[in-house]
Amino acid sequence: MTTAIATATDNLEKVGYLDLQVDPELDLVAEIERLKEEKNAIILAHYYQESEIQDIADYIGDSLGLSQKAAETDADIIVFAGVHFMAETAKMLSPEKKVLLPDLKAGCSLADSCPPHLFRKFKEKYPDAMVVSYINCTAELKTLTDICCTSTNSVHIIESIPEDKRIIFAPDRNLGAYLRKKTGRDLILWNGTCMVHEIFSHEKITKLRLRYPEALLIAHPECEAHILEEADFIGSTTGLLNYTKQSPANEFIVATEVGILHQMELASPGKKFIPAPPNNTCACNECPHMKRNTLEKLYLCMEYEQPEIILEDWIIEQGVKSIDRMLEISEKAGLGLKKD
Ligand code: 13P
Ligand code: SF4
Repeated sequence: MTTAIATATDNLEKVGYLDLQVDPELDLVAEIERLKEEKNAIILAHYYQESEIQDIADYIGDSLGLSQKAAETDADIIVFAGVHFMAETAKMLSPEKKVLLPDLKAGCSLADSCPPHLFRKFKEKYPDAMVVSYINCTAELKTLTDICCTSTNSVHIIESIPEDKRIIFAPDRNLGAYLRKKTGRDLILWNGTCMVHEIFSHEKITKLRLRYPEALLIAHPECEAHILEEADFIGSTTGLLNYTKQSPANEFIVATEVGILHQMELASPGKKFIPAPPNNTCACNECPHMKRNTLEKLYLCMEYEQPEIILEDWIIEQGVKSIDRMLEISEKAGLGLKKD
C-alpha cells in the first residue's frame, strides 16, 4: 500500500523520513490504528502532546507512568509520543524492543541544560555525595546518577536516602529548591531550568486571580519559587489532573504546559481551565519540543519504523540502574500506574 509520497527521492536512508509528505486524503487515525495492530506496537503519549495524538495513544501519562508502562509492555514496538529523554528511558527499560520517536529533534531544554561532561566535573567536587537526577536528563547523565526521580516521586526518593548523606540534585534548580523546602534537605543543586515552566508571569497570574477570584492556582514543581509560593496545589501532571477531578472547585489557573488541559477538560467538562500566562506575548506555555510531534510524523514513523532510538550498550547497562532504583522505590511507596 503506497501511503506516502517521496518528494525528492525514495532513498529513506539518505533523506530521512521527514522529507516524505503524507497524502492529504489519507485517514491518519485509521492508518495508525492499522499499523498498531499489524506491528504489535504501543503508543505512549505524554500529557503535553497535541490532543489528537493523546486521543490515539494507548496510554497517556506523566513521566513515572510512562516509564512504568515502557518497562511492562509486551508490544514489539514502543512508539513514544513525547521527547527524546523519555524515548531513551523506554529504550533503557526495554532494550530488546524497537523504540521510535516521531521526531528525533524533540529534545528538552532541561535535559540540554546539564551536559554530562560538565556535570562529571561538578560531581567530582562532592565525592561523598549521592546523585539524584530528575528523569528529564540525557541517557548519559543517567549513567552518572544513583537514583532518578520524577515530579511524582521526587519527595519519596529524597526521603529514602539516609539523612546524613549529601545529595546532588540535577538538573532542575526549581524542582530542587521545592524539594529543599519540602524535605528540609540541604541539596546541592545543578543550575538548570525548563524553558516552559520558568516563563510564567507572576504579575499576569495575579491579575487573572482578580478576574477569577474563585479559581485555584495549580502549578507544576518545575515552576519558579515565586509562582509555587502562590499556588493552592503543586503536583506532577498526573497529580494536577487528579486534583482537578477531585476538587470541588470549578475554576483553575493551570501553571504548566497547556497540553494537560485536554485531559482536564475531558475529565471535568463542566469546569473551567485557564492556562497561566507567560511573561511575554508568545505561546511559551507550549513546549516547542513536545509539539514537534504531529499526527503525520507519528504515522510516518510507524510506517517506516524510524527514527529509532539507538543507545550504546554501556549507556543502557550503567544508566538503567538509576531508573530501576527509582521504580523500586515508587513501587514500595505505591506510586504510579496502580494508584492512577
Ligand atoms: P511530569 O509529567 O512527570 O510531571 O513531567 C512534566 C514534564 O515537564 C515532562 O517534560
Ligand atoms: Fe523539557 Fe520543559 Fe518541554 Fe518538559 S516542558 S520536555 S521539561 S522543555
